[in-house]
Amino acid sequence: MNNICPHLGGVLSYGFLDNNCVTCPLHMWEFDVTTGACVWPGEEKLPTYPVKVEGEDILVNVDTPLQAS
Ligand code: FES
Repeated sequence: MNNICPHLGGVLSYGFLDNNCVTCPLHMWEFDVTTGACVWPGEEKLPTYPVKVEGEDILVNVDTPLQAS
């Protein structure tokens, strides 16, 4: 999913991952990394992208988001 939090631009890859949920490091909004849905406070949805694993490589197709934000 996108790396930028839709709240005020926090960098989600600097956040905290617990199971499928990443918490933004700035104001603690939470997103499901498998769907892009905001689980708290629940008002936004981030685009997610198709991913596949080839050997030791993880390939992300950033040209074709699965859904728009
Ligand atoms: S910038 Fe992510 S919760 Fe505020």
